[in-house]
Amino acid sequence: MKILIFTNKTRAIARAAEMIAERIEANPRSVLGLATGGTMLDLYSALVELVRKRGLSFAQVSSFNLDEYVGLPPEHPASYHSYMRECLFSKVDIPPENTHLPHGDADDLYEEAAMYERLIVQSGGIDLQLLGIGQNGHIGFNEPSSSLASRTRVKTLTASTQAANAPYFERPDQMPKLALTMGVGTILDSRECLLVAIGSAKASAVAAMVEGPVTAACPASVLQFHQKATIILDQDAASDLKLRDYYQFVHPEECVEP
Ligand code: F6R
Repeated sequence: MKILIFTNKTRAIARAAEMIAERIEANPRSVLGLATGGTMLDLYSALVELVRKRGLSFAQVSSFNLDEYVGLPPEHPASYHSYMRECLFSKVDIPPENTHLPHGDADDLYEEAAMYERLIVQSGGIDLQLLGIGQNGHIGFNEPSSSLASRTRVKTLTASTQAANAPYFERPDQMPKLALTMGVGTILDSRECLLVAIGSAKASAVAAMVEGPVTAACPASVLQFHQKATIILDQDAASDLKLRDYYQFVHPEECVEP
């Protein structure tokens, strides 16, 4: 794992956006695995700015999102389909047919999940998988106790995940209790992972992911088994790491004061 700790959120987000841009420059046909949530809002806005500044094209890029709520049609304002359209897809030149999210309103969710896995394989696999982390250590919506070999499937959201995401809905009781999510095994198959965590609320999950045992109790800890995982943190999210000085010693250029 490559642990990069930045003095503040702005610098951490800027580095993550830079990494994505670098990968697209190196391979314009990149297959991106995309995430949603509050952290990604900032990241996508930094990425869109960078794309404009550099004249970067997404014309040949394709994407697969991690998850979608069960029961929400793509046009629902709180769906991840809508989130992605608003935050990224409408702001870059990615062809809509190159973008993929699981359909949480499919009649047969088991077939939808199997088809999503097939589509990822047919695309050649994910080159760069973006990830956030839940306060309980989830990645995608793989909640604690998720099989570390799991594939795309329906998961029941924990009470803490429901509470964290309810503000995105008009009324808290509209918050879905189920999601269709790529599995931990699906995420592990990606060629590279980039996880971004900001703020002290993520500190204990980050410490469990990086320095704890690999366990289904913290699904993100499985990234210790990933061949190429970069973890981008601000100081607050890194605050519970025991070997923080060591990570900063290895990558000092990431930690200089602005
Ligand atoms: C959603 C997803 C989740 C979020 C995580 C952190 O697509 O993958 O795992 O990344 O819940 O969300 P924020 O950034 O809102 O704290």
